[in-house]
Amino acid sequence: MPSKTDQRIFRDTAIKAAKAGGKVLRGLFAKEIRIEYKGERNLVTEADRAAEAIVIRTLRKQFPDHRFLAEEGGAQDSAGSVGSVHKWIIDPLDGTTNFAHSYPTFCVSIGLEIRGEIALGVVYDPLREEMFLAEEGRGATLNGRPIHVSKTEKLKASLLVTGFAYDVREDLTNNLDHFTHVSLRAQGVRRTGSAALDLCYVACGRFDGFWEMKLAPWDTAAAFLIATEAGATVTDFNNRPYNIYLKEILATNGRIHREMVEVLGLKRRSRP
Ligand code: IPD
Ligand code: CA
Ligand code: CA
Repeated sequence: MPSKTDQRIFRDTAIKAAKAGGKVLRGLFAKEIRIEYKGERNLVTEADRAAEAIVIRTLRKQFPDHRFLAEEGGAQDSAGSVGSVHKWIIDPLDGTTNFAHSYPTFCVSIGLEIRGEIALGVVYDPLREEMFLAEEGRGATLNGRPIHVSKTEKLKASLLVTGFAYDVREDLTNNLDHFTHVSLRAQGVRRTGSAALDLCYVACGRFDGFWEMKLAPWDTAAAFLIATEAGATVTDFNNRPYNIYLKEILATNGRIHREMVEVLGLKRRSRP
């Protein structure tokens, strides 16, 4: 556990970096910006790069010897950072496709891993000015107020959320069957286009559960801790403990977890 002073510096700097990244995104939102393709459907915009640059600059100024893992690759570890136990894991714009279409749902996500454990998570939605934050063992907050998962007991009364990986057309191991199975049993299923916000919305009870396949560490590093600290149960589809390097995530309010594990197991059972 970091000392109280270190915790405060980590927290304040992460908030400062998320706000700086969010300001850049807000400024470029719904403007004409450069868009490039990383794959057939996977985009990167000048907003992703500009937000990443300012997030990294803000963190590195305070922590020159820490390591960095950022989605757009804008952070090379410095010589002094080799062997550091601190790693910042950054998605400067989670919701790039939304952003590129001027659809107002996206965020900045910053997680801090210390000795392999996520110790701090900050997710900032700059349009709604919502700052989700969690520190290990200290609960989760939204704009400074404690948040908790919902109390919905049954899947049939639950609102779920999910997403689809960019290779959904090419890879048969995709989320389409799960989407069908869950849609037939839940009250509703949404697809917002920002996995980090999806997890934060489970944390504050707007959704009762979230599942997705093939996410990257930067999608979940911060929001995994936020959800966990708000009381969520977070596992893989087989109910084994989740970590951010796994390829399946199921996060629920706990009460509907068993039902969700059953439903996400349906495809595997029918196709051995
Ligand atoms: C994506 C979003 C989306 C999820 C994709 C992610 P990006 O991240 O989180 O909700 O379904 O799997 O890759 O590309 O917008 O940072
Ligand atoms: Ca992402
Ligand atoms: Ca991104």
